Amino acid sequence: MPKITLTVNGKTHTHEVEGRLLLVHYLRDTLGLTGTHVGCDTSSCGACTIHLDGKAIKSCSLLAAQADGSSITTIEGLAPEGELHPLQEGFKEEHGLQCGFCTPGMIMCAADLLSHNPDPSEQEIREGLEGNICRCTGYHNIVRAIQYAAQKSAVAV
Ligand code: FES
Ligand code: FES
Repeated sequence: MPKITLTVNGKTHTHEVEGRLLLVHYLRDTLGLTGTHVGCDTSSCGACTIHLDGKAIKSCSLLAAQADGSSITTIEGLAPEGELHPLQEGFKEEHGLQCGFCTPGMIMCAADLLSHNPDPSEQEIREGLEGNICRCTGYHNIVRAIQYAAQKSAVAV
């Protein structure tokens, strides 16, 4: 079995993993980071979105072995413990979730978007989220939540 070493939310982990193990299952089942959800397993829904070396990816589309040597951030590592990231605050304030299943993936995708485009238009937000599916909200409040975070981050700078 391949041995992998990677950094997740600032902590280094080394494990032997089955070659067929998906990264999302490694995060959830081996590391217990269940904030990253599995909605489809076919890279269609975006619920499993994480950051790999600073870039949003769908963690069901990668083997754990392929992530060897990388640095990963999951929803659990987005903000310091006990604090909310502006996006988490935005989803709370703007009612950007209902069941919450898609929310971690939405937030991780939006964080990547805002890191490249701190002041996106509504259209740019909608295009940025096109790989993430929500079955509850109709997306309107998700867009507002991201606009909230963009404004809050702009004020903080
Ligand atoms: S679980 Fe990865 S895209 Fe749906
Ligand atoms: S809030 Fe339920 S799937 Fe998005």
